[in-house]
Amino acid sequence: MTGRLEGKVAIVTGAGARGDGLGNGRATALTFAREGARVLLVDRDEEAVRGTLTMIEGERGEAATFIADVTDSGDCARMVTAAVERWGRLDVLHNNVGIGSRGSVVEETEETWERVQRVNVTSMMLTSKHAIPEMVRTAGGGAIVNISSISALRPRGLTAYSTSKGAVIALTQAMAVDHARDGIRVNCICPGPVFTPMVGGDRMTPEQREARRLASPLRIEGTAMDVAHAALFLASDEARYITGVVLPVDGGVTLMSPERSTA
Ligand SMILES: NC(=O)c1ccc[n+]([C@@H]2O[C@H](COP(=O)([O-])OP(=O)(O)OC[C@H]3O[C@@H](n4cnc5c(N)ncnc54)[C@H](O)[C@@H]3O)[C@@H](O)[C@H]2O)c1
Repeated sequence: MTGRLEGKVAIVTGAGARGDGLGNGRATALTFAREGARVLLVDRDEEAVRGTLTMIEGERGEAATFIADVTDSGDCARMVTAAVERWGRLDVLHNNVGIGSRGSVVEETEETWERVQRVNVTSMMLTSKHAIPEMVRTAGGGAIVNISSISALRPRGLTAYSTSKGAVIALTQAMAVDHARDGIRVNCICPGPVFTPMVGGDRMTPEQREARRLASPLRIEGTAMDVAHAALFLASDEARYITGVVLPVDGGVTLMSPERSTA
């Protein structure tokens, strides 16, 4: 049986995770490789991304690491060149990098505000700016998947973060229109409260974790693999007629009103 991304080359940003944890980027890179893609694992954290490489190679998948800060245009250009020089083409760009924030506009510093917008939104513009021409040149098109958040659909006190993730939706849809004629599809995923190292570890008590689980009508805990499977579909040719969609992967959380969420 051939994999759903057989023959394709993918870049996954934020492909690292702490320890043996499964962040959204690591889970997606692992899933892409299992389905036959050759994957460039991009992260600024060398140790974190090495862990992902070890996992993929342990399953006889094909991948390589690339250390980059995706807020740096030069790094983004070199990242694309590295993928194309190594494997001769570029089919998929998965923009997963994102950082959190807390607080209202009154509480937030300008520096934090600007940092969150740069890491969460401008980075996707920069990676896409360099990737799209190479996707067109080497593969005749391709697929871009951007990671937004349900915080963009239902904000609740993470204002800089929610704003940046709303911009990711607008960016996705504008790019979908701009590059449809290039054969490039651009979609985004809005993960709900999935359990990853970003939110887990010592950042959450068992009670908070349980409250997150109960917040969805399905009452199951979302994992990074739930996000990865959605990304796989959108990146694959199975989604050839789909562009500009905003796909919540949240167990139905966004369907609930806040007062009913833990009832
Ligand atoms: N975990 C959740 O519940 C949740 C919910 C909604 C959306 N998301 C989104 O999913 C994405 C990934 O989340 P995660 O929980 O897997 O995060 P994570 O923190 O576990 O992983 C993110 C990775 O990105 C890397 N990174 C950060 N800034 C970078 C930069 N400038 N350049 C290169 N690499 C950089 C980090 O080193 C890290 O390895 C984010 O966009 C996040 O906003 C997560």
